[in-house]
Amino acid sequence: MRISVIGCGYLGAVHAACMAKLGHHVVGIDVDPKKISALSSAKAPFYEPGLDELLREVQATGRLSFTSEMSKAAGSTVHFVCVGTPQKRGENGADMTYVDAAIDSLLPYLEPGNVVVGKSTVPVGTAARLASVIGEQLDAHLLWNPEFLREGHAVSDTLNPDRFVYGVSDGSEEHEAVSILDDVYAQPLAEGTPRLVTDHATAELVKAAANSFLATKISFINAMAEVCEATGADVTRLADALGMDDRIGRKFLNAGIGFGGGCLPKDIRAFMARAGELGADQALTFLREVDAINMRRRTRVVELTRELCDGILLGKRITVLGAAFKPESDDVRDSPALSIAAQLQLQGAVVTVTDPKALSNAAKRFPELQYERALEIAVSRSDALLLLTEWQEYRDLDPYELAGAVSSQRILDGRNVLDAAKWRAAGWTYRGLGRP
Ligand code: UGA
Repeated sequence: MRISVIGCGYLGAVHAACMAKLGHHVVGIDVDPKKISALSSAKAPFYEPGLDELLREVQATGRLSFTSEMSKAAGSTVHFVCVGTPQKRGENGADMTYVDAAIDSLLPYLEPGNVVVGKSTVPVGTAARLASVIGEQLDAHLLWNPEFLREGHAVSDTLNPDRFVYGVSDGSEEHEAVSILDDVYAQPLAEGTPRLVTDHATAELVKAAANSFLATKISFINAMAEVCEATGADVTRLADALGMDDRIGRKFLNAGIGFGGGCLPKDIRAFMARAGELGADQALTFLREVDAINMRRRTRVVELTRELCDGILLGKRITVLGAAFKPESDDVRDSPALSIAAQLQLQGAVVTVTDPKALSNAAKRFPELQYERALEIAVSRSDALLLLTEWQEYRDLDPYELAGAVSSQRILDGRNVLDAAKWRAAGWTYRGLGRP
């Protein structure tokens, strides 16, 4: 099938490459010429494990190309909309500028029978609105197909998702667009990926609800971490025990510095804003608390760091291990690690940030911080280490080897991933979050 993918960011670039891998002829379209030129030479414009290799593999088949000209969407049967929906400046709601612009510029190239497939995370009601814009002009379909991929696992999550959700205007399996999208996803469907057909609004809500649930689960365990801190209990053991109840499950119960990234924080805020517009704001007031618990983690880490440094941050050399919002990603959007680093710097600490992949993105966001790629240099003469993004290389650090490099053996484990007993045995003052 001929497919266009509009928007080649974290979602679209991976989607385009994976659709070509499934055997389709794909054109990826983006307004950013830098992204297009990188992708055209089979280089991902961001770090995502396996994506460079996949781009090289599928471009060699001639089935994948990239362009900044929307006219190249003409001739495709299916058009995936993968542009961003960031938080509006100074407001909780989602900024729909890019989605609206993508649809506007695609309209002249649509043909009757084409299917526009929305993948961006949007406020409920968007699909119905866009369907009427498209439907007024010609007999094309609008299907909402939310994306659930995780950064760092984007390629495998796209090729082998745990479910497909198709939102169509009448919510019916018989809708013409359903069988067209089934052809696109023929391979994962044949391999057993379940798919659910719903109406537009339900499909949009599945995504908002899924991310809200995940955010709530993380904030729940972080709230328990606060109680553990007040009582001397250990939140990691608590989570292990809770997780053994398979109704609860251990995943997403890792207490620490909280969630960040380009999705969970802005999605829960956009969801609350949309519920407010719909007169259902009471239903989601708990998400305000989820957000507040999450943001409180960052302040708590600053306070703990001060305690760790004998009550004084001024002039202390702090090394922050990790800048990305999670490991295996170079994404620093709303990264809790960077936000903590910046707050510490504001309070007079001398902060050096290191990260295997995210330093150039971090430097664009917070140019005032000091960055150092080489771990041995970053930790040298440090008064306190803060492990804030749990890259494997930081989990594997040897407390004995590191002891000689730093000024003071103090470590704050913001992700609760280190073996506290081992670090203490090596002479370190170890602090976890929600751990004695
Ligand atoms: C999230 C969802 O997990 C995806 O299903 C969804 O498709 C995506 O948002 C999206 O809307 O596009 P992602 O932002 O890549 O994916 O990252 P997650 O793995 O969900 O992690 C989010 C944040 O929560 C990270 O900062 C992570 O460190 C934190 N986290 C995660 C915790 O603090 N504790 C946990 O137990 C799990």
